[in-house]
Amino acid sequence: MGLSNLSFSLLLLLSALQLVSAQLATDPNEVSALNKIIDHWDLGNQLSLTIDPCTPNATWASSTANPRVTCDCAGSTCHITHLKIYALDILGEIPRELFELKELIDLNLGQNVLSGPIPAEIGQLSKLQYLSLGINNLTGPVPSVLGNLTKLLSLSFGSNQFSGPLPMELAKLTTLQELYLDSSGVTGPIPQELANLKSLKTLWASDNLFTGKLPEFLGAFAELEDLRLEGTLLEGPIPSNFGALEKLDILRVGDLGEEDSSLGFLENLTSLSTLSLRNCRVSGKIPEQIGNFAKLQYLDLSFNKLTGQIPNSFQDFTVLQFLYLGDNNLSGELPASIITPKLIALDVSFNPMSGNLPLNFARTGFSMNVLGTSINGNGLPDRGGFGLLNCLQGDAKCTNQLPALSSFSIKCGGTSQTSASGIEYNDDSETLGAASFYKSSRWAVSSTGNFVFNSNGPRYIASTDSQITETLESELYKTARLSPSSLRYFGLDLMNGKYIVELHFAEIAMEDDTNSWKGLGRRIFDVYIQGERVLQDFNIQKEAGGSKRALIKTFETNVSNTIMNIHFMWAGKGTCCIPLQGTYGPLVSAINVRQVPGAGNSANRGRKRVGRIVGISLGCAAAVMIVSSVFYLWWIKDDAPGHMRVHTDIPKK
Ligand SMILES: *[C@@H]1O[C@H](CO)[C@@H](O)[C@H](O)[C@H]1NC(C)=O
Ligand SMILES: *[C@@H]1O[C@H](CO)[C@@H](O)[C@H](O)[C@H]1NC(C)=O
Ligand SMILES: *[C@@H]1O[C@H](CO)[C@@H](O)[C@H](O)[C@H]1NC(C)=O
Ligand SMILES: *[C@@H]1O[C@H](CO)[C@@H](O)[C@H](O)[C@H]1NC(C)=O
Ligand SMILES: *[C@@H]1O[C@H](CO)[C@@H](O)[C@H](O)[C@H]1NC(C)=O
Ligand SMILES: *[C@@H]1O[C@H](CO)[C@@H](O)[C@H](O)[C@H]1NC(C)=O
Repeated sequence: MGLSNLSFSLLLLLSALQLVSAQLATDPNEVSALNKIIDHWDLGNQLSLTIDPCTPNATWASSTANPRVTCDCAGSTCHITHLKIYALDILGEIPRELFELKELIDLNLGQNVLSGPIPAEIGQLSKLQYLSLGINNLTGPVPSVLGNLTKLLSLSFGSNQFSGPLPMELAKLTTLQELYLDSSGVTGPIPQELANLKSLKTLWASDNLFTGKLPEFLGAFAELEDLRLEGTLLEGPIPSNFGALEKLDILRVGDLGEEDSSLGFLENLTSLSTLSLRNCRVSGKIPEQIGNFAKLQYLDLSFNKLTGQIPNSFQDFTVLQFLYLGDNNLSGELPASIITPKLIALDVSFNPMSGNLPLNFARTGFSMNVLGTSINGNGLPDRGGFGLLNCLQGDAKCTNQLPALSSFSIKCGGTSQTSASGIEYNDDSETLGAASFYKSSRWAVSSTGNFVFNSNGPRYIASTDSQITETLESELYKTARLSPSSLRYFGLDLMNGKYIVELHFAEIAMEDDTNSWKGLGRRIFDVYIQGERVLQDFNIQKEAGGSKRALIKTFETNVSNTIMNIHFMWAGKGTCCIPLQGTYGPLVSAINVRQVPGAGNSANRGRKRVGRIVGISLGCAAAVMIVSSVFYLWWIKDDAPGHMRVHTDIPKK
C-alpha cells in the first residue's frame, strides 16, 4: 500500500469519525430530556426526532417551525438554545426534564393548557433571555426563583390562574425590558422592590387584584413605552412623576379608586399614540397641550370628573381617530372644529354640554354620541333623544311623551322574536359602532367604546349557531350585544312604580373546552340598574356553569321619572384576547322589564337616590340621563301606525 493510499484511507477514516461526531454532537442529556418532553406532551407527530435535534437545516429549526428547536453548535458540543411549543394545546404539568435544557435562551410555551405550578427548578435555566408561559392554566404562586433568571429580557406569564402576590425577587431582573402579567391572578400590594426594574419598556399588568397606591416608582421607569394597568384595586392619584415618562407611546390606566387625579402630568408626554385614563377619578380641566400631541390616535378620558370646556387645541389633532369624553362634567359648547378629518368616533355623551350639533358631523365613516347632553339636533327632530338631559338632572321632572307604558322587551343584538311564554322581544339588530345610539318608540340603546387588541375589526354583536341549554328559548340567546366599554338601555315613557327587570345572558363568544387554551377566557363586567350596581365582577360562564348555557338574573327596581336605565359597564377586568383578540366587556342577550302589578305610583323618592349612588360608584359627575346620539339621523315611519323610529346609521356612499 502506497503512502497516498494510506493517507486516503486515513482521510476516509477521519471524515467517517467527523460524521459520527456530527451525529452525536448534541449533549446526550439534552437529547434524552427532549425526547421525554416530546413523549410527555404527546408531540411525536409534530416533532419526530429520527435524527439529531441539532442537525443543521432540520425542519424544526426553521424560523416558522412550531414546535421549534434550535441549537448552538459553536463549541465541541451542540446545546439546545431555543424551544417553542406554542398554541398546540399541550396539557398537564411542566415536566422536570425541561430543566435539563440548561443552555436555553428562549423558551416559549405560550397559549397551551399547562396546569399545576411553575416548578422551582426553572431557576436553573439561568441563560434564559425570553420566557413565555402566557395563556395557560398554571396555578400556585409566581415562584420567587424567577428572580434567578437575571439575563431575562422578556417575561410573560399573563392569563393564568396564579395566586398570591408578585414575588419581590423579580426585582433582580434588572435587564428586563418586557413584562406581561395581565390577568395572571396575582393579588395584593405591588412590591416596592420592583422599583429596580428600570429597563422596562413594556409593562402589561391589567386585570390583577393589586391593592395599595398606584406605585410612584413607575414614574422612574424612563424607558417605558407601553404601560397597561386597568381593572385593578389600585388607588389614585396618578403620581405626578409620570410626567417624566416621555417615551410613552401607549398609556392605559383605568379604574383607580380613592383619590382624584389631575391631567397636569401629561404636559410632556408628546409621544403618546394611545392615552386611556378611563374611570380614574380624574378631575380638573383637560390641558390645552393634549391637542398638540401629534401622534395621538386614541384618547379616552371617559367616566371621570373632568370640568371646563373641551380645549380649542383639539381642532389641531392630525391623526386622532377615537375621542371618548363621555360621563364627565364638561360644559360649554361643542366646537364643530373638533371633528378633525381622521376622526372616526366622538363621544361626549352624559356631559352638561350645550350648543348645536355640528353641521359637519354627517360624514361617512364617522360616528358620534351626544346623548345626555343639551346639545340640540340642529333642526333634526327631537324626540326623546336630544335635550332629555335636563329632565333627568336638577329639578325638572320628566313627563311621558306617549301614553305611559308598563313594560318593554328587547332582543339585544338580534331580530324580533316572541318567546314561548308570549313575550314579544323587539328587534335590536341595528349596527352600533364605536360611539352610537339607536332609539325606538319604547326604548333606546347607547353603545360606546372601541375594542383594543382587535385586528379583525370591531364586533359589537355576537352570534352562534349552537344550541343554548338550560332554557326552552334557545333562540333568545343565539345573538347578543357586546361592548368594549359601556352599553346602556333606556326604557322610555314608563309609568312610575315598581318594576321587575329580567336580564338574559348566555356566554356565546367564549368556549368551555378544557383541552384547549381557547377555554381559558374570562369575561367580567358590572351591571347597574337605575344607577345602582346590581352585579359586580359578573362572569356569565362561571355563574351559568359553562358557556352556551342560559342564565336569567332578576331584579326589582323603581321608576320615578318615566325612565329605566340599565347600564352594562366594563371595569377593566377579565382576559382580553381568548379565544379571539378583543374578547372582553359586557355581553347581554335579552332584556324583559315589566311593572309589578298593583304596585302603583309610589316611587317618587327614587330619583334622588339614583343620583347619589351613581356619583359614588362611578365617580362621575354627570347623573344618569337619557341618551341621544347620532351617526346620521333620519326618520322612518314604521308600518305599524303611530310607531316612529329614529334610525342611526352611517350614510351610504
Ligand atoms: C442549509 O440551507 C442553506 C440554504 O437553505 C444552505 O446554503 C446551507 O448549505 C445548508 N446547510 C447545511 C449544513 O446543509
Ligand atoms: C436561585 O438563586 C439563589 C441565590 O441567588 C440560590 O441560592 C438558589 O439555589 C437558586 N435557585 C435555583 C433553583 O437555581
Ligand atoms: C415638562 O418639561 C419642562 C421642561 O423640561 C419642565 O419644566 C416641566 O416641569 C415638565 N412638566 C412636567 C409635568 O413634568
Ligand atoms: C384549568 O384548571 C381548572 C382547575 O384548576 C379546571 O377546572 C379547568 O377546567 C382548567 N381549564 C382548562 C381550559 O383546562
Ligand atoms: C322602591 O320604592 C319603594 C317605595 O318607595 C321602596 O320601599 C323600595 O325600597 C324601592 N325599591 C328599590 C329597589 O329602590
Ligand atoms: C360640574 O361642574 C360645575 C361647574 O361647571 C360645578 O358647579 C358642579 O358642581 C359640577 N358637578 C359635579 C357633580 O361635580
